[in-house]
Amino acid sequence: MMVVMSGDATHQDAHQVVALVRSAGGEAFVSRGGNRTVIGLTGDAELLGSIGLHRMRGVERVARTSDGYRLVSRVPGVERSVVDVAGVPIGPGTMTLIAGPCAVETPEQTLQAARLALAAGAVLLRGGAFKPRTSPYSFQGLGERGLRILADVREETGLPVVTEVLSAGDVELVAGYADMLQIGTRNMQNFPLLQAVGEAGRPVLLKRGMNATVEEWLMAAEYIAQRGTLDIVLCERGIRTFETSTRNTLDISAVPVAQGLSHLPVVVDPSHSAGRRDLVVPLSRAAVAAGADGVIVDLHPRPETSLCDGPQALGGQDVPELARAVEDAARLMGRRPA
Ligand code: E4P
Ligand code: PEP
Repeated sequence: MMVVMSGDATHQDAHQVVALVRSAGGEAFVSRGGNRTVIGLTGDAELLGSIGLHRMRGVERVARTSDGYRLVSRVPGVERSVVDVAGVPIGPGTMTLIAGPCAVETPEQTLQAARLALAAGAVLLRGGAFKPRTSPYSFQGLGERGLRILADVREETGLPVVTEVLSAGDVELVAGYADMLQIGTRNMQNFPLLQAVGEAGRPVLLKRGMNATVEEWLMAAEYIAQRGTLDIVLCERGIRTFETSTRNTLDISAVPVAQGLSHLPVVVDPSHSAGRRDLVVPLSRAAVAAGADGVIVDLHPRPETSLCDGPQALGGQDVPELARAVEDAARLMGRRPA
């Protein structure tokens, strides 16, 4: 079960709900996001349904939800969420373009990539300082030095920063530099990491595990929400299939499916799913047409020299086409640029 609090509910109202649930032998988890507070309940549903929660001050609605995820589930009649990342909205009504290098390599490369991102219409800068590589011999990222470069480039360009955190022990460090914490596909079910980012006080970009169902993805989001934050954006980034012409298969249907099951915004990463530069613009169009709330794209000033994922990175010559594609598709879908 889940309690949706009204927009004007106070912390005290939420505490009263928690206290009543506990007095009935249940447990309650309060989670807050930009435009809402929800409380997930565990315990005897029959009993919790009979204690008058819906009559309490600040309660908008009491709803039955799936067993596996509650705080992130969509309640009929309650609007989808907007997540605010340092003033940039991600959610219904807007189209948010996030772009930047796969990996932070040098200050110059990151600044040049950020300028390309701005030219493409991006409002958030992506870039990895801690890279999850298949081979331990591949470039692993610059670590904290990369985070400092990202912070400098944010200063220079004004673009808030999204960057990946690989381990629970690094969450505090990364949150000290980042505006949004990214959980990559390989870590979607790293439960201690999910719990740690849920407590970090930053919005979270949660990529779908390449082998995960939509339901497993939502339960991963629930781990984050249960630790207090509802500022979570889901990112479809392709799944493993038998198809070998792309790196992963972009599951475009996951966009409306996840939006139907969860109130969280959903964005698409056409770069990591396709692994091919030539597919990034067509898949970006498809993502927007399917209703995605944003697109996250790899850009590099010299893709051929990229230390990570060069074949999928767009270069400067691709920027006008990306900008046009996202803008046109957004207009067709009745969305305005974030
Ligand atoms: C991306 O950002 C990842 O680090 C990358 O896709 C890892 O893949 P690889 O190490 O197999 O190249
Ligand atoms: C990334 O976006 O840098 C990344 C590692 O992506 P994914 O986790 O989707 O492979």
